[in-house]
Amino acid sequence: MALETKKALARAVIFLGPPGAGKGTQARLVAGEFHVPHLSTGEMLRENAVSGTELGRLARPIMESGSLVPDDLILRMVEDRIARPDCANGFVFDGFPRTLPQAEALNRTLERQDFAPPVVIFFRVADDILMRRMTGRRTCKVGSEIYNIYDFPPKVAGRCDVDGGELIQRADDRPEVIRERLAAYDRQTKPLVEFYRSQGVLDEIDAAAGMAAVTASVFAVLHRPKGRP
Ligand code: AP5
Repeated sequence: MALETKKALARAVIFLGPPGAGKGTQARLVAGEFHVPHLSTGEMLRENAVSGTELGRLARPIMESGSLVPDDLILRMVEDRIARPDCANGFVFDGFPRTLPQAEALNRTLERQDFAPPVVIFFRVADDILMRRMTGRRTCKVGSEIYNIYDFPPKVAGRCDVDGGELIQRADDRPEVIRERLAAYDRQTKPLVEFYRSQGVLDEIDAAAGMAAVTASVFAVLHRPKGRP
């Protein structure tokens, strides 16, 4: 059964959308269902920052200001990651690509590695909802499980339901940094919507809906027979 679902993805899935749109929440579900890696560039950078690597040292102040980390650093990190054997059956990108040069480089890499064209799902949500989602977000320090103090609180305040780990607030989830992140998204990432639409690989979903409805929209796209509607 697991083998069949692995074969069913066999491509890159890209979750595109503003910060706080729910990309990470849905990417975890899709990766679990298809048994493929969930590749969050934000998560990779935060791990580098915690373990004090050179990349983490460079990225931390940029992330805490709400700006994007330079393309060359991101591309090196991503290319190393998708060259690993566990990516052979496909993978889910959350937070990558975020600029036109990143998207163009990814297209070249996918082609070189004989992957089918990616499936790109655009999460459409208004800014006022994003602010509430990000200021309310708490993440487990141990397993990266995602909660929201307004909409999806843990059973015990401050503790993860799954492993009891401490729930923390991200340094970039303060309102002044969120405003910068939204501006960076508008400036540098939003143009990718038209880039992928023009390539015929974009699907748009209403990500302002409740969690179950968003999950249903994502899986409807991924379970659709190959070939577009
Ligand atoms: P990154 O970690 O990628 O953050 P982001 O894109 O800003 O996205 P978020 O993680 O904030 O949101 P999300 O869409 O995953 O939402 P989530 O599921 O958590 O990037 C951080 C930084 O790293 C960047 O600013 C940049 O500096 C750097 N970086 C990363 N990648 C880069 C790249 N490629 N190039 C350059 N720099 C890069 O959900 C949010 C909240 O909403 C949660 O509390 C959740 O519980 C809740 N929620 C989710 N879905 C719903 C729903 N349907 N209804 C109600 N609440 C919901």
